[in-house]
Amino acid sequence: MKILYVTSEAVPFCKTGGLADVAGSLPPALAEQGAEVAVVLPLYQRVRERFGNELKFECYDYVDLAWRHNYCGLFSLEKDGVTWYFLDNEQYFNRGSLYGQADDGERFAFFSRAVVRMLDHFKFWPEVVHCNDWQSALVPIYLKDDGVREDRYRSIKTVVTIHNIEYQGRYNPYVLGELFGLDAGWAKDGTMLLDGDANLLKGAILCADAVNAVSPTYANELKMPYFAHRMEGIMRQCSNKLSGVLNGIDMKLYDPRTDGRILKNFSLEDMEGKDACKAELQRMVGLREEPHTPIVAMVSRLVSHKGLDLICEVLHDMMELPMQLVVLGTGDQRYEDFFGWAAQQYPGRMSVRMDYNEDLSMAIYAGADLFLMPSKSEPCGLSQMIAMRYGTVPIVRETGGLKDTVQPCESWRDAGNGFSFANYSSGDMLHVIREAVYLYKDYPDVFGRLRQRAMSCDFSWARSAREYLRIYATITGQTWPIHSDTRRALEVSEGEAAPAEEPVPTEEPAPVVEAAPAEEPVPAVEAAPAEEPAPAEEPAPAEEPAPVAEAAPAEEPAPVVEAAPAEEPAPAEEPAPAEEPAPVEEPAPAPEKPAKKTRKTASKTASKADKAEKKTEKKSTSKKGTAGKKKSAE
Ligand code: GLC
Repeated sequence: MKILYVTSEAVPFCKTGGLADVAGSLPPALAEQGAEVAVVLPLYQRVRERFGNELKFECYDYVDLAWRHNYCGLFSLEKDGVTWYFLDNEQYFNRGSLYGQADDGERFAFFSRAVVRMLDHFKFWPEVVHCNDWQSALVPIYLKDDGVREDRYRSIKTVVTIHNIEYQGRYNPYVLGELFGLDAGWAKDGTMLLDGDANLLKGAILCADAVNAVSPTYANELKMPYFAHRMEGIMRQCSNKLSGVLNGIDMKLYDPRTDGRILKNFSLEDMEGKDACKAELQRMVGLREEPHTPIVAMVSRLVSHKGLDLICEVLHDMMELPMQLVVLGTGDQRYEDFFGWAAQQYPGRMSVRMDYNEDLSMAIYAGADLFLMPSKSEPCGLSQMIAMRYGTVPIVRETGGLKDTVQPCESWRDAGNGFSFANYSSGDMLHVIREAVYLYKDYPDVFGRLRQRAMSCDFSWARSAREYLRIYATITGQTWPIHSDTRRALEVSEGEAAPAEEPVPTEEPAPVVEAAPAEEPVPAVEAAPAEEPAPAEEPAPAEEPAPVAEAAPAEEPAPVVEAAPAEEPAPAEEPAPAEEPAPVEEPAPAPEKPAKKTRKTASKTASKADKAEKKTEKKSTSKKGTAGKKKSAE
C-alpha cells in the first residue's frame, strides 16, 4: 500500500503542536507495518537551517494557482523507513514562523496545489493521500477537481484527520477563485460554504473517502454543537465515513528507563530514580523539598479550552490540600496574570513558569506525582500519556482522548490508571484532586499500584498504525498490506506468538490501552453517558454501574470505542447504548464514481445541511480569524 502523508508540521523538523508529534511518529509506524510511506511538508526556514545539509535536491517544477505561476523545489530525506519530501518556495515558506501570517490562506493553498502538482515527481503514485487539518484540506478538493479531467487522480483515495476542529480555514467566498483557483460553484453548491464563509475543512470532509478524529470519543463529540464549532451537521452527515483513531506516543523517546533528559532513570521495577527526579524538580522550580507531599503538575498552553477557569475558581481550596502545584506554559494574558499572582501567594508550595521549555517539561513529567488536565475539550491530548509513562498519575476531565486513555481509579479493586471527573465543574474537579492527594498521602501502597498501572499502559503507535491501515484497506478495497515476516516480527515484539499462517486479525477492535487488567470487567464508570458536557450547574450524570451485559468479554480489555454512546447523549438515568459499532470498521462509502458526480451529490446534501443550520443558528461573524490562528499545542 502506497501512502502519501501530507502535513504542515512534523517532529523533528518543525513543530507548533501535537500534530507535529503525530506526523513525526505515525508514518514510520505505518512503514514498520509494511506500507510504503512518503510524507510531504513545506520547506520552512527552520527546516532549511537545521536540516539543510541532509536534504537532497530532487527537482523543481512550476505550480499554477489562479493567475500565479510559482516555482516549487522538491527536496527529500530518508529517515525511519520513510521518504520525507519538502516543498520549497522561499516567498511562502522562508519565514520565521509556521502560521499566523496574513497570507496563510495563500501559502497553504500553494502547498496543497503543489502537493498535487508534484505527485509525478514523488517516488510513487499514491493509493492513499492522507491529509491533516485545514492546512492540507485543499488536497482532496484539488484531487476531485483534477479528477474531472484526468482519470489517474480519481484512482487516489483520500483520508482527512481532524486534530482540532476549531481551526477550519475560513475565508471570504469571493477569494475562492483568486486565492484557491477554484470555481465559484464549490461555494455556491455548499460544498465549501459554511455560515457564509468558504470553509476549507468542510470541503475536505465532504470530499474525502474517510474522515477520522484523533480519538473515538472526539469523533462522537464532533457531532455535538458544544464541540464542533459549527460543523456538527457536517459531521453527522458524514458519520458513515467518520471514525476515531487514538494517537499514540513515541514509546522509545518517552521511556523513563533510558531517557537521557531526566536526572535519574527509573522503571516499574525500580522507582528510586523517580524520587530523585522529584527532589530535583522541587529544587529547580523552588518548591519545598518535601518527599512526601504530592506534586500536582500542569504542562499546558494557558488557554481557555484547557479548563483553566476551573482552576481559577478553586485554586485557594486546592492549595489548602497538602500538595504542591507546578504550572508550565504560556498563553492568554489573563491566565498568565492569574497564575503569576497566585504563585506569589503560596511561596514554596506553588511555582509557575511561563515558558515553552522541553527540558523543564521532561523534569515535570518525571518528577511530579499527579498531572492535571481539566480540559473543556481535548481531541486527543498527548501529555497525559507521556505523564503516565513517567509514573505521573493523570487527573483529567472525561472528554475526547482524555476519556479514552484514562480510566478512573477504583482503589477497592485495584483498577484504573488515573482520576477523572465528568462535568465541567470546579467542585467536581476539586473533589477528585482531593481524592488523589489523600490516596497518595494515606494509602501509599494503593497509590503505588495505581502508578504502576499508569506506567504499564501501551500507547505505542503500532496499535494506531494498524487502525489507519484498516481504514486505508477499506477505502481502497485492499487487504491489509502486511508482509508475513514483518507481522511475525511485530508479534514477537508484542509478545503474542501466533502461527504465521493465521489470517491477519483485521476485524478485531484494538484495545485502546492495556491498563485495565485483562480479566476484569469494564469499569462501570466507563460506560456512563458522560460525552455531553453538562453545564457546570447541571447535576452530574448518573454514576450507576452499566448493566452486566455491557461488560466486555472477560478475556478482552474493553475497547473504549464500544463504551462511547451514539451521537445522541443518553439521558442520565439510562445506561449508554452499547450497540454502536466501532466506526473504524465501517466501510467508507467510496464507490469509484466520476468526481463531478460525487462532488454534486456531496454538495446537494451539504447545501441542505447548511440551510437547516442557517435556520436554527445565528450567522457567525468571524471570517478569517480561525484560519490564521496558531495551531493548538499540547
Ligand atoms: C491537536 C489537539 C490535541 C491532539 C493533537 C494531535 O493539537 O488539540 O488534543 O493530541 O492535535 O492529534
